[in-house]
Amino acid sequence: MDFELKTLSRPRSASEKTDALIVLVPTGVKPQGDALSDLMAAAIKAKDFEPQAGKLLQSYRSAGLGATRLLLAGVGGGSAREVKKALGAAMAALKSVGAQKLIISLSWLELEGAELSAAVQAAVVACADGTYSYQLTRSKPAAPAIEKVLVGVSAQAAARVGFETGLGLAKGIELAQEWGNRPANHATPTLLAGAARALGKLRGIQVEVLGPREVARLGMGSFMAVARGSEEPLRFIVLRYIGAGRGQAPVVLVGKGITFDTGGISIKPAPEMDEMKFDMCGAASVLGTFRTLAELRPQVNVVGLIPACENMPDGRALKPGDVVRSMSGQTIEVLNTDAEGRLILCDALTYAERFKPQAVVDIATLTGACVIALGAVRSGLFASNDELAQALSAAGEAALDPCWRMPLDDDYAEGLKTNFADVANVAGRAAGSVTAAKFLQRFASQYPWAHLDIAGTAWRGGAAKGATGRPVGLLVHYLLGLAKAAKPAAGAAGSRGRRTPSKSARA
Ligand code: BES
Ligand code: MN
Ligand code: ZN
Repeated sequence: MDFELKTLSRPRSASEKTDALIVLVPTGVKPQGDALSDLMAAAIKAKDFEPQAGKLLQSYRSAGLGATRLLLAGVGGGSAREVKKALGAAMAALKSVGAQKLIISLSWLELEGAELSAAVQAAVVACADGTYSYQLTRSKPAAPAIEKVLVGVSAQAAARVGFETGLGLAKGIELAQEWGNRPANHATPTLLAGAARALGKLRGIQVEVLGPREVARLGMGSFMAVARGSEEPLRFIVLRYIGAGRGQAPVVLVGKGITFDTGGISIKPAPEMDEMKFDMCGAASVLGTFRTLAELRPQVNVVGLIPACENMPDGRALKPGDVVRSMSGQTIEVLNTDAEGRLILCDALTYAERFKPQAVVDIATLTGACVIALGAVRSGLFASNDELAQALSAAGEAALDPCWRMPLDDDYAEGLKTNFADVANVAGRAAGSVTAAKFLQRFASQYPWAHLDIAGTAWRGGAAKGATGRPVGLLVHYLLGLAKAAKPAAGAAGSRGRRTPSKSARA
């Protein structure tokens, strides 16, 4: 899909030929003599429309309009959050309509500078999200596709950075959604490594893939133990994005890549087990973040680590009570084979030490307990370092991809004690997302570390079942913030290390 940013006056918004026109309508619109302003004001006055985020008024082939379909979408004060909500509603209303060309007009928003930029960014991301539809394993397309989106604003200059950032983000979010959605037989560890290799073709990104032999040589006994139960060979994926000088310590992102989680011998109940194809959404968010890095080229160094395997029951599978030796040397008693995410992540966290990172952030669909604690609204954030926690929290707010900090008191680790190894892989049922984080923390002592439990936020169940692409937005905003801090002069997209300016781009 093609996006274009254009200066569009209010009268031009009305006359432009298009299949569908979405006009974002803020509170306080007055009749001004142009067709759309007068229409909005009249509709509000007649109480047929309220300019609140989420409210819509639709019309078809109205006289004096160039658009076949018009959607007035309330946007309240015009914050990024309201723009996202407005476009979520408007895009849903257009879902089954055969529109090919779409115009989104922000020309009624009286915003400037950073606020306009944030609104445009939110509009692009929400529009791209609304048009994504999973296709790979369907024999017919699910919905007609929008081909061209024109984003109209009253002043282009202030909107440009937000527009470019939004485009870059949309690509990463879509990649994360796509790989999250793919069925486990179409997203094996080997195929996931293939997706990473494809990213390695983009400028600034290098990819290396380790197989069972190399992983054994590294001594990743915990990761290998989980993979034992599957016919699919494990993969350990290493991505590098070099956007700053070689001397700058990288941020390491570690993504849980369980391509299917049956629970292993501690097998899960059948209902909704299909959703455990989403157990690699942490990995998908790392791939998505790298996709966006390649697009936006911020001045920061990033390493991505993805331990990828299936968790299956089998004659050779790991059994409850087995003790394994992690790469760190710590021995682990596996009391529950369904607590496998932490078993693959711990070895990746040890591997991360070799990069002498400024920070390590792991991203994992780790615990059902986190879904109980925070639901689908906020991801769980755990951090050993306040500054890192603060930066990630702020990034989540800015990206409309929020998280919430959870505690890490040492008292929570009591239940991980065992008579048979250095640590057990599960404690009791209480505070399950915290005890999981306490387990990981034992392997992350050498650098500032944070853990995002995305079990509740990475995908939706029910009729809208599908990956959300979270927390790509949070991660990208965090990394863009680091790049900006390192080079305060950077402001416009053009000065953020981008070498070729792009006018319009495909998402
Ligand atoms: N992948 C699951 C976590 C999960 C479960 C995410 C449901 C989203 C929805 C993870 O591997 C797991 O099975 N965790 C167990 C841990 C328990 C055995 C301590 C869980 O949460 O039940
Ligand atoms: Mn599990
Ligand atoms: Zn799992």
